[in-house]
Amino acid sequence: MRIKNICCIGAGYVGGPTMAVFASKCPDIKITIVDNNHEKIKLWNSNNLKNLPVYEPGLSKIIKQTRNKNLFFSTEIDNAINESDMIFISVNTPTKTDGKGKGLAADLTFVENCAKNIGEVAKSNKIIVEKSTLPVRTAEKIKEILNSTNKFNVKYEILSNPEFLAEGTAIDDLLYPDRVLIGGDNSDSGKKAIKLLQEIYQRWIPKEKIITTNVWSSELSKLVSNAFLAQRISSINSISALCEKTEANVEEVALAVGMDSRIGSSFLKSSIGFGGSCFKKDILNLVYISRSYGLTEVADYWENVIKINNYQTNRFGNKILQIINSDSEKNEISILGWAFKKDTNDSRESASIYLSEQLLKSGLKVKVYDPKVSKSRIIHDLKTVFQIKKLNNNQIKKYLANISIYKNVYEATYESGIIAISTEWEEFKKLDWSRIYTNMKKPAWIFDGRNLLNNLELKKLGFKTFFIGQA
Ligand SMILES: NC(=O)c1ccc[n+]([C@@H]2O[C@H](COP(=O)([O-])OP(=O)(O)OC[C@H]3O[C@@H](n4cnc5c(N)ncnc54)[C@H](O)[C@@H]3O)[C@@H](O)[C@H]2O)c1
Repeated sequence: MRIKNICCIGAGYVGGPTMAVFASKCPDIKITIVDNNHEKIKLWNSNNLKNLPVYEPGLSKIIKQTRNKNLFFSTEIDNAINESDMIFISVNTPTKTDGKGKGLAADLTFVENCAKNIGEVAKSNKIIVEKSTLPVRTAEKIKEILNSTNKFNVKYEILSNPEFLAEGTAIDDLLYPDRVLIGGDNSDSGKKAIKLLQEIYQRWIPKEKIITTNVWSSELSKLVSNAFLAQRISSINSISALCEKTEANVEEVALAVGMDSRIGSSFLKSSIGFGGSCFKKDILNLVYISRSYGLTEVADYWENVIKINNYQTNRFGNKILQIINSDSEKNEISILGWAFKKDTNDSRESASIYLSEQLLKSGLKVKVYDPKVSKSRIIHDLKTVFQIKKLNNNQIKKYLANISIYKNVYEATYESGIIAISTEWEEFKKLDWSRIYTNMKKPAWIFDGRNLLNNLELKKLGFKTFFIGQA
């Protein structure tokens, strides 16, 4: 048997790029990505590739090559489920906002709804692949749901195949991954299912990079990978605060530490703090799982990674407020970058949101520029954070009246007294900083939350500067 037909439920930042790469490498397999968000599917099908709902370097080229050949975007979920031999569940798994585990555990409603949907309509045997990041032992729950709604005596095999792509480099990460992880049952049918998925990946990925484990190790490995990555960022960020007190320079410290081959240099870049839809939610999930097994010390250890991250963003905002408080002329600040990192239009959990919240609540006017995040998204992000903090409509309206969003970076910085760099977009390095300086209120400040710009050059132009971890 070979897989001829794949369905992927969830056309988001993972489902879209992952299946586009699958389609480009497997022209003989029909792949249908389905989503219950009709507007999103419309955008994926849009003729103008600039309107794709996900921005990733290289993505639109692959979509152009594969769309409507062997890659299809559809809202007809039941049909796609029925046609397929293999179904990837790639839906969102946010942190729960109410009920047991509120604020920590993963909300599995979307995954459970997929399982219900499959169980109700599937008429032939299916391999179900967990692509979403899930708490360890979720496969058990999925199996239970599938079997409780199984009207046609369908046989299911469940695999865990977590996705390790990073937004901004998703296409490269999918084409040349460090590893592919497949977790499955040790039974004959489990081994067969693993082999079928392995065969797909082997079309472009060396066999030795595809590792197989039991389902539980695979589910847990994804959470642990994200926790380790986030932990490195929080580690260097904690040291950045110490550098500022001691006149050590965090960039120099990171270089010296990272050259130790036992440590390595990746993920040692100090910044305003990590964002993104995954790190925080996956660590919270790990904390929740550890607590639920009575492992208090383990839970506390990982929780501190998030505490340091919040501390770092807040610390950065406080530094700005210190300048504001000492200069009554300054009541406007420009934030450059809204995406949680460069080369993506994703702003989920971006540090910019929390920085803006802090500044708006302090009565400041905030001007924002980002090359890829839309105005409506920025307003939505802020509204959501204010609603979560239980602000009333009048307060929200008042704060939102103080935010303006620009399509031009020079307009966004015109007559501001302070600029905060929040995303490491390459284009910020190439701006005409002399022109920006001329048009700013003096003294003109730059707070570089990514240590992106050239501090010396900026100082030569007349800027006053704050760089993370540099006294
Ligand atoms: N974004 C990343 O960088 C990344 C990387 C690795 C893993 N992950 C994990 O992958 C999963 C998906 O993340 P994402 O960023 O792609 O999320 P996303 O929010 O961008 O996309 C999820 C999509 O699923 C759709 N959906 C939800 N329930 C549905 C249902 N019942 N039927 C049809 N469609 C449904 C939503 O409408 C949405 O479009 C999450 O578990 C996440 O933790 C994300």
